[in-house]
Amino acid sequence: MTSSIPSGYPDDQIEAFSLLGTREKLSIDDMKILALLEVAGEAFYLAAAQAVSNADAKDLLRRNGQEERGHAHRLLKAIDLLGGEFKLPDDTDNPYVQPMDLNGVINADLLNIIQQSEKDGDMQYQVWADAESNEQVAKILRQNGAEETRHGERVSQVVDLLR
Ligand SMILES: [Fe+2]
Ligand SMILES: [Fe+2]
Repeated sequence: MTSSIPSGYPDDQIEAFSLLGTREKLSIDDMKILALLEVAGEAFYLAAAQAVSNADAKDLLRRNGQEERGHAHRLLKAIDLLGGEFKLPDDTDNPYVQPMDLNGVINADLLNIIQQSEKDGDMQYQVWADAESNEQVAKILRQNGAEETRHGERVSQVVDLLR
């Protein structure tokens, strides 16, 4: 059962991302999906932090993870501002959060892909912000976007640390 997601959305993370990528402006339901995807971003970064042994790298990855959850909370605020209502489900009820073991998987190639997707994430958020008529909501989207770029910068620091 995927009761935590609005109907009509894929319960696969990559498909959900691709679908949102086709949106010029986010609907309230899109924002619910995006919030759930941000939480999945946290799960990824926390699993990545666990899979590296360098303490500074762990710290950078964990911080990204915490901010991804922060992005989800900002989206809840945006939904509220637009008159909608949404609460984050437990991770076990979030179809985009899957148990992850990233031991032995974290290398420069993967991290470079992540860095690029953070950059793309920022661009995406800015497009959605430009299309948003509620100024407070637009601001939230811009803030999330700017932090995605910072995540990418942290990820490239991790690449250096793991060299
Ligand atoms: Fe994010
Ligand atoms: Fe991010």
